[in-house]
Formats: sequence, structure tokens, C-alpha cells
Amino acid sequence: MKIVIINGSARKGNILTAINAFMKGAADRNAIEVIQPDKLHISPCKGCGVCQCHKGCVDNDDTNPTIDKIAAADMILFATPVYWWGMSAQLKQVIDKCYCRGMQLKGKKAGVIVTGGSPVDNIQYELIRKQFECMAGYLSWDMLFQKSYYATDRDELAKNTAAIEELEDLGKKIG
Ligand SMILES: Cc1cc2nc3c(=O)[nH]c(=O)nc-3n(C[C@H](O)[C@H](O)[C@H](O)COP(=O)(O)O)c2cc1C
Repeated sequence: MKIVIINGSARKGNILTAINAFMKGAADRNAIEVIQPDKLHISPCKGCGVCQCHKGCVDNDDTNPTIDKIAAADMILFATPVYWWGMSAQLKQVIDKCYCRGMQLKGKKAGVIVTGGSPVDNIQYELIRKQFECMAGYLSWDMLFQKSYYATDRDELAKNTAAIEELEDLGKKIG
């Protein structure tokens, strides 16, 4: 499968650790590309609506090439730290820009990985999970997994061997 991973974290920390563990499991049988929004120039959606009558976004930045990659993928893996009870702005910005070609994202496989500084029974993980469930319902995604981990310090997830094994195993089951 072609897998696109959208890394909603700009620092080399817990989400990157989670992505690397997943990729370790999945790399053999899949072509994987990581999209790093903080390294791209993607301006926020202005809701101009022009995309609904033309192909793609009118913004002459990294939006369309990024959406091309997402539209061409069989699976989208959304990976984000919790920022203020929700996903990070970097990830949300890319998702908002998918509005220009939302219907081309129908029927994908999807997965979600979240890390946060609060224990996993905090409502924030449920809020994020529900938001992705709604997107999945709207776009008929086959949601393969949604995983949340508690990890505050930058290197904390790396010390959680059970989490790393779980993420590697998830990767091994893909493709
Ligand atoms: C701007 C900002 C907002 C945050 N908001 C929350 C929050 O609402 N709830 C929480 O549990 N952790 C919050 N955190 C902590 C991060 O979610 C947590 O440390 C995460 O594992 C960081 O992932 P990273 O190492 O990949 O950046 C926040 C961190 C930052 C920088």
C-alpha cells in the first residue's frame, strides 16, 4: 500500500518516535511517505469556495502538491500531539485544506496516533477520537486504529516499551 503519514508535531519527540515505530513494522510491505507540515508553506483555508468549481486550491503554495500525495495514498496516518485538548494546528491546517478535494479522499484506509501530557482517560483523547470518527464517517474511511498514549517529556514515549511494541505490531499488520 501507499501510506502517507501526516506528522502534526514539529519537534523530534513523542510523535516522531511513534511514527518511527509504526514505520519499522510497516516499511517492508508498503511505500511510506511522511508529510511534515511545519516544513511546508500551507496557508490556512480561507473558505473562498473557489475550489468547489475548480480543481484544487487557489493558493499557490504547497497545498496542492500535498493534497496530491494524500489523494494518491491508500492509507492516511494522522499523527498528532494534543495541543489544547485537540489536534495540533499543523495537522488541522492540512486537513482543512483537504476540503478542496475532499471527495477524492473517499474510501481510504486511515489510522490515528495521538500523544499527550495527560493520562489516557482524559476527555481530550475522546474529543480527538470523535472528530476523526466523524471525518471517517463522512468520507467512508476504513478506520484501522486510533491509538492514544500518555507522554509528556520529549523522550517519554521511547521509554514506553509496550507502546513501541504495539505501534510496531500495528505497522506489521498493514499492507
Ligand atoms: C502548545 C502545546 C499545547 C499542549 N496542550 C496539551 C493538552 O491540552 N493536553 C495534554 O495532555 N498535553 C498537551 N501538551 C503536551 C503534548 O501533547 C505532549 O507533550 C506530546 O507528547 C508532545 O508530542 P511531541 O513530543 O511529538 O511534540 C501540549 C503541548 C504544547 C506544546
